[in-house]
Amino acid sequence: MMNEIIHVEIPRVFERLKEPARYKLYYGGRGGGKSWAFAQALILISLEKPIRVLCSREFQQSIKESVYQLLVDTIQKFGKSHLFKITDNEINGINGSNFFFKGMARNLSSMKSLEGVDIVWVEEAQSISQKSIEFLIPTIRKKNSELWFSWNPDEPTDAIERLKDSLLNSVEEKSIIQKITWRDNPWFPDVLNSERIRCRKDSPSQYQHIWEGDFVTYGYFFEIERLLEDKKPLKIPEYISSVYITMDTTMKGGIDKDGTAVCFWGVDLYENPNLLYFLDWDLVEFEGSMIIDWVPEVLRLGEEWSRKTKALNGFLDMYVEDKAAGTIVIQDSIRKQYKVRAIDSKLTSLGKDRRCLLISDVIQNRQVKIVETAFYKVKMFRNASANHLIRQLTSFQLSDKAADKRQDDLLDAFAYGVALGLKDAIVDV
Ligand SMILES: Nc1ncnc2c1ncn2[C@@H]1O[C@H](COP(=O)(O)OP(=O)(O)OP(=O)(O)O)[C@@H](O)[C@H]1O
Ligand SMILES: [Mg+2]
Repeated sequence: MMNEIIHVEIPRVFERLKEPARYKLYYGGRGGGKSWAFAQALILISLEKPIRVLCSREFQQSIKESVYQLLVDTIQKFGKSHLFKITDNEINGINGSNFFFKGMARNLSSMKSLEGVDIVWVEEAQSISQKSIEFLIPTIRKKNSELWFSWNPDEPTDAIERLKDSLLNSVEEKSIIQKITWRDNPWFPDVLNSERIRCRKDSPSQYQHIWEGDFVTYGYFFEIERLLEDKKPLKIPEYISSVYITMDTTMKGGIDKDGTAVCFWGVDLYENPNLLYFLDWDLVEFEGSMIIDWVPEVLRLGEEWSRKTKALNGFLDMYVEDKAAGTIVIQDSIRKQYKVRAIDSKLTSLGKDRRCLLISDVIQNRQVKIVETAFYKVKMFRNASANHLIRQLTSFQLSDKAADKRQDDLLDAFAYGVALGLKDAIVDV
């Protein structure tokens, strides 16, 4: 009975799901048929031989959020319900196959015993954290075990995109990596097609993201792509002339703690005076004057960057906005003879829009290059784990009415850094 032929139609692009490969990554816009194809392929394999399948995602509050129902429906569509025992939270084949469902964010520590897993399917993999990926890869270790990922791309800095890039560059690992859109789905339903057409008309930039599977673009002022070279961040430069830091502190209405942002910069005044390297950033929160205890640490990192980049003239100065807690920093640093200076008031008094306009041409001309450290950094700040630098840069809009509600300390520190490095003679030797 198990050998009965099931007539299944899977879109052509998914045929490779049947090939053995450690990694199978399918990503793209909505409605491409990813979830259906994965579910069908897994049920088919589980009928052929007993397999243990972990269906996972980063966050799973209840089984309802998992692919459980999709798998149950698929079994029914195949007319194979008699070959499975379906419980409230597991699906078991009478041949010994087993599907179980777990979110990773909360269960990592209790998931240590996953050694018997043949296939893990991570759905919504755009949300998977770096920590979960790092845990999963060495844990799924059975001979011929496979890691399947399906997702709708969000941001280029997401952990899954890094895994994808590393697999694309890997010669050791055999991987199946495939972008999918609605065009690949011969059963793309009419209701989705009407939504797609409406979206294309009403919000073209959203359309590219939702339906064509491109990274989210905010259609805003700064394009991150301008900071990249061949769509990638730069390696840490090997020789530059000097390193400097910019710091911005702001007190946002209603929040009594100060968000403080620092950016680390590298310039090469001899070889490439028109280029500025954006090395690193940090974003922290302090209660009032506590910030002055952090200053030595930031300056030490500045020195460290100057060693890492073999900066001929070493670390120059930290430039601080002379407002809010920045004023305390400057006064305290003068007393302690730290390498700290106030940013010229000509620059700080400009206002955000004019400051961003001031630096927009050098960004547009690709004179600012982001280095891997800054690009791949993810940090927890006010309950959001993200690359806040990229977030703040990409969400900036000119004459934004909600600007005062937006977190933008990093944007300011960034704009100061660019203005000092490429728009002014302040950073000299
Ligand atoms: N093999 C198939 N046979 C019949 N219909 C299918 C098949 N595959 C997909 N479909 C139809 O296409 C729709 C979209 O497929 P699916 O949900 O798998 O896409 P997806 O790529 O996972 O989309 P999303 O990115 O929105 O999660 C399904 O709801 C179903 O109606
Ligand atoms: Mg899906």
